[in-house]
Amino acid sequence: MIYSEKVMEHFGNPHNVGVIPNADGVGEVGNPICGDVMKITIKVDDDRIEDIKFQTLGCGAAIATSSIVTDMAKGMTLADAAAITKNQVAEELGGLPPAKMHCSVLATDGLKVAVDDYLVKHGREPIAGPIKSSDPNFDPHGDEDDEHEH
Ligand code: FES
Repeated sequence: MIYSEKVMEHFGNPHNVGVIPNADGVGEVGNPICGDVMKITIKVDDDRIEDIKFQTLGCGAAIATSSIVTDMAKGMTLADAAAITKNQVAEELGGLPPAKMHCSVLATDGLKVAVDDYLVKHGREPIAGPIKSSDPNFDPHGDEDDEHEH
C-alpha cells in the first residue's frame, strides 16, 4: 500500500493534537468495522472555528486525515466545515489508497458531530444531520452517492 508523502508527513507529525478544555463543541465517532475512534473538540467565535484539536486512536490514515481536517477547518465557518467531504480530505493529502478511503470518513464525521453539538447546545438546528459512522449498520467501505467521484 503506497501512501503519499503528505500522508506520511501528517502521520509522523500530526497537527492540532489534543483536547480543548471547555470546548464549545465535541464530536466523538467510531468506525464500527475496525474499532478506531476519534474525538474532535472545537472553539467557536462568531460562527467560525477559532480553534480545533483531535485525538484519534486508529490507523495511520485515520491520524493523517484527522490532522489535515483540523488544518482545513480552522478559520472556516461552521457550515463550510460541516460540508468538508472525504474526497476533499483525500485530495488535500495527495490521495489515499482506495482501501483506506473509509478512514477519512472518521475525521469528517467527527467534525460534523462537533459542529452539530455546538449548534444544538445553543438551541439551534443541526446542519450536518445524521452521522453515518455513528450508525451501527454503517458500512465504511460503502460509497456515498453525494461524494462519489471517479
Ligand atoms: Fe480504521 Fe483506518 S482502519 S479508520
